[in-house]
Parts: sequence; structure tokens; C-alpha cells
Amino acid sequence: MVFNFFKKPPSSFLGIDIGTTGIRIVQLGLQDKNIILENYASIETKDYLEILGSGVKLNNIKMSDSKIAKDLKKIISKAGIVSKKVAMSIPISSALSSIMILPDIPEEEIAKAVDFEARQYIPMPINEVVFDWSIIGREIQSGNSNVVDNSRQIKKIKILLVAIPKETTNKYMNIVSALDLKLIALETESFSLARSLVAKQNGAFTIVDIGSRTTNITVVENGFVVGSHIVLGAGGEEITKIISHGFDIDFKRADVLKKDIGFSDNKGSEKKISEVILPILSIIISEIQKINESHSRASKENIKKVVLTGRTASLSGLIEYFSKELSVPVEIGNPWKNIIYDSTLDEVLKKNSPFFSVAVGLALRGFEK
Ligand SMILES: Nc1ncnc2c1ncn2[C@@H]1O[C@H](COP(=O)(O)OP(=O)(O)OP(=O)(O)O)[C@@H](O)[C@H]1O
Ligand SMILES: [Mg+2]
Repeated sequence: MVFNFFKKPPSSFLGIDIGTTGIRIVQLGLQDKNIILENYASIETKDYLEILGSGVKLNNIKMSDSKIAKDLKKIISKAGIVSKKVAMSIPISSALSSIMILPDIPEEEIAKAVDFEARQYIPMPINEVVFDWSIIGREIQSGNSNVVDNSRQIKKIKILLVAIPKETTNKYMNIVSALDLKLIALETESFSLARSLVAKQNGAFTIVDIGSRTTNITVVENGFVVGSHIVLGAGGEEITKIISHGFDIDFKRADVLKKDIGFSDNKGSEKKISEVILPILSIIISEIQKINESHSRASKENIKKVVLTGRTASLSGLIEYFSKELSVPVEIGNPWKNIIYDSTLDEVLKKNSPFFSVAVGLALRGFEK
């Protein structure tokens, strides 16, 4: 799929998402202070990522950097993508994230304290990772409960720490340098999705990205990512496999049935596809419920909405089923909602929302103030 519909942009920024089943590129630009869609492209290729089964479970780029760079070069030139500045995403499963609690120290001392404490939180040699952090909240905890003294309140600073192995970041660096692009940012997908699907809205939201190999669940509070979780093996690939086994048909046929019928065959007495795939959807639902409940307990604020993305979210009947099972509103996220584009593209862009939400979030990073 290649589209190209604007002349050379004045200032633009690229988002490139390398997922398990393909690469998606979005180029955004500025026009009269509005963010406009200038170009987008995608290629479908299987197995860009592979789950490595060793020690700490991390998702890594399986294909050689040069093969990915070659594919990207082709699509960039075919689509006429001109921007050189790029942000790229790393799967949540490629990064290690943890919550660090610091005492209430002055703002200028936080960076030093995080550097100092980081090694306790990262289960890998600190010189083998790059890490980044952000403040996600400040908490007030009561001091000694036996002492009735309201002035004795201890403030804590809550930090989200994200570490990515250098081996992984090097692969992304190699890809961009082979393409003569300038890598401005590398971030985990949770941050890209928070930017494109929730932005700075007040309140707490749960983003559920149901992809090919995994389902990633990210909680965003007042515009900040406050947690991300991986549900391994609960994705589109597993759904195809279970249909294939359940009906004794090959993967290709199972994939067609999945996309045509999905979870919507509630009628008739024949063995249903919805019955066969229910166990996988149930795992995802129970993870969402657990995460939502734990967020409500910890922050005393309920989740306002569950926002679905990833192409398995397009499964027919899925949104109705999730809405029935979860006690909060559920919707498919629309990454294009704050972006200006040619109205003739409306239908195709909306239909492909779950496909481009990471790439749009990455490209939006170029316009953050
Ligand atoms: N219309 C559809 N209905 C149901 N499933 C679909 C549909 N279109 C694509 N899929 C499935 O969605 C999955 C791919 O989703 P997506 O492109 O979001 O994953 P990815 O980003 O490549 O993978 P991951 O996030 O696991 O790395 C595949 O399993 C594919 O079969
Ligand atoms: Mg994905």
C-alpha cells in the first residue's frame, strides 16, 4: 500500500513502526499550525520480530538490520517520503520497565538519583542498557501512624524507568544510518500509543494493543504512561492457530475464517469460531480487568475508557463482546483525530486506524512542545 499526496513539505517528521507482521511509516507536517498528514506507507512482511526464549524475555529484531533497511529503502523511495527526521518504536517486550520510588528531593537532583539507583531496578549489567525515565506522580504517605502529627507526612516521587539493551538500540541505529535518516527518538510503543490515542486528556485510560504475537496493555493517566504490561501468546497468530486446530484446517484457511467471521458467529448449532477463540479473548479480558482494578485501587480513580488498537482489534464482534464483559466504555482508538488530511482518505484511514496508531504517535513526537 503506497500513497503520496502532498508536494515537498516545509517541515516534516517521520514515524516508523517495525512490527511482527510489517513496517508502517507515517509522515506528518505543519501547515498553519495544524498537523497534517503528508504521506504514509506500509509493507507486510512476516517475522520482523521474534520472541527470544532466553533469560529475561525480550523481543528482538530477528531479521538482519540490512534486510529491514533494504525493505524500508524501497518503500521510502516508492512512496516519495522526503523527511529525514524520524522517531522509531521498540516493542514493550524489548524493554524492561519498572517503577522507582524516590524520596522528595529537589527537581535538579532527581536525574543523579535515578542514575545512582537504576542498577537496583534493572536485571542486566547497567553498561549493557540505555535507560530513560519520567516522573509519573508524587505521593504523600502518612508518617509513623502511631504518632498523631499531620505535619509528619512523607512525600515520595514515583518514576517510570525504561531500559533497552544496547544490542537492540544498535540495530535501530544501524537501520537509520543505512537509510541516511536522523534518529531523533527511540521509544517503547506504549508512549507512541498514548500520544496518538489518548494525548493529554484528563483521567485514566487503558490502551489495549492486540497485535500478532502479543497483547500489550498500557495505562495512561492525565497523559502520562503509568504502566505497561505484556500478555504473551495472546494475539492474532494464536487465534489463527486455535481455529486451525479446532476445525482441522490449514493456517491460510483459518486466517480467512478469522478475518471473515471472527467472533460474530453466534447463531446456528454448528461448532462456532467464537467458541474456539473464546479462551484467548478471555485471557485478554481478565488481564484488562486485573490491571483496571489494580489501577483503581492504587490511584483511587477508575479507568474512564478502554481504547483498543492493533489489527486483531478489528476482529468482527470483538468490540461488542469486550463492551459486554468490561464495566467501562470500550472503543477502537482513532489516531487520526487531531490530524488534518484529505477528506477522500477518511474511509481508508479510519479503517486502518489500528494499523497505524503506533506510527502516528511516533510522528507526532516531532511536534511536541
Ligand atoms: N480484519 C482483521 N480481523 C482480525 N484480525 C486481523 C484483521 N486484519 C489483521 N488481523 C490480524 O492482526 C494481526 C496483526 O496485527 P498488527 O499488525 O497490529 O500486529 P503487529 O504490530 O505486526 O504485531 P505485534 O504487535 O505482535 O508485534 C495478525 O495476526 C493478523 O492476522
Ligand atoms: Mg504491534
